[in-house]
Amino acid sequence: MSGPNSDYDPVEVTPLRADEVEAMRDAALDAIAGAQDLAALKQVRLEHAGDRSPLALANREIGALPPQARKEAGARVGKARGEVNKALGQRTAVLEAEHAERILVEETVDVTLPTDRVIAGARHPITTMSERIADVFVSMGWEIAEGPQVEAEWLNFDALNLGPDHPARTMQDTFWLEPAEAALVLRTHTSPVQARTMLTRKPPIYIACPGRVYRTDEIDATHSPVFHQVEGLVIDEGITMAHLKGSLDHFATSMFGDGITTRFRPSYFPFTEPSAEVDLVCFVCRGAAVNEEGDTCRTCRGEGWIEWGGCGVVNPRVLVACGVDPDTYTGFAFGMGIDRTLMFRHNVEDLRDVFEGDVRFTQPFGMEI
Ligand code: PHE
Repeated sequence: MSGPNSDYDPVEVTPLRADEVEAMRDAALDAIAGAQDLAALKQVRLEHAGDRSPLALANREIGALPPQARKEAGARVGKARGEVNKALGQRTAVLEAEHAERILVEETVDVTLPTDRVIAGARHPITTMSERIADVFVSMGWEIAEGPQVEAEWLNFDALNLGPDHPARTMQDTFWLEPAEAALVLRTHTSPVQARTMLTRKPPIYIACPGRVYRTDEIDATHSPVFHQVEGLVIDEGITMAHLKGSLDHFATSMFGDGITTRFRPSYFPFTEPSAEVDLVCFVCRGAAVNEEGDTCRTCRGEGWIEWGGCGVVNPRVLVACGVDPDTYTGFAFGMGIDRTLMFRHNVEDLRDVFEGDVRFTQPFGMEI
């Protein structure tokens, strides 16, 4: 067994020789000068100035030397380490400055460059039109009612006096949902909201119901399988056709301006009796049927009137089906196309433009508040 080597008294330790220390220092200085970026310099610092670097290891040997040799070696190693640290400091400063400069160049923002034009979205004109219509009725003290687009067959037809074999059912070509036993349809009109309202609340009822409806129509310039209606329903004591006429005249004037009133033409709807088609005074020729040059008005095709919707006095059979006493109450109802109203009001010639979602069409409407 060997004991501690107490008489070990080296005069010289290889790593502490002047040439060795210089070689270590030079290797460190070369590596520092060669580091091209801060990450590389970090690695160099670890290798040449870290705890396990040759100079640090050499430094540990100093203690083993006799005093004189220790002093010399200490000075040598200390000087070398000092030089390395100084070089590291200088190289760090240079690389940091370069880095900052590169970032300034790389991340420069040219504020004078023209930007891509981002088209700000606009609300869909059908939405704005529905709200405008709702406002007309709200300002008369009516309420806005809504109903589901997937509707019970009974509410879409039967409650409105359109029984299973009623010939008028074919007037409204219907999308049926599967399974057939569920008896569900995509509502063909907003009239089921009338039935829903009468079934759930007591008169007096003054409601307008804008909403989306569906029919199996082919798409063309004036038809779409998806379109929008606004339904109006009033149930109160002593309501007559005159109240209906007055309300629709007010509605027409609010939408199209002073002087644009309505006329009724006799018609048929199962849910109203009597029933009428509603026409508007042509808002282009204002009923004259000819334009300023004396030519036939193109908008109303020389009629002086434009078809707008349907209306009538609520059929007592509908009141009974919906739990309203027809001996106490009477009422009126009407239904207009919102899309049609938009087309008239803004001179839109093709209904497809309304539904295709091209921002070039919807954007100008966004300006309307
Ligand atoms: N629901 C009818 C339609 O879609 C319009 C209407 C509503 C007619 C209310 C009279 C009364 O054609």
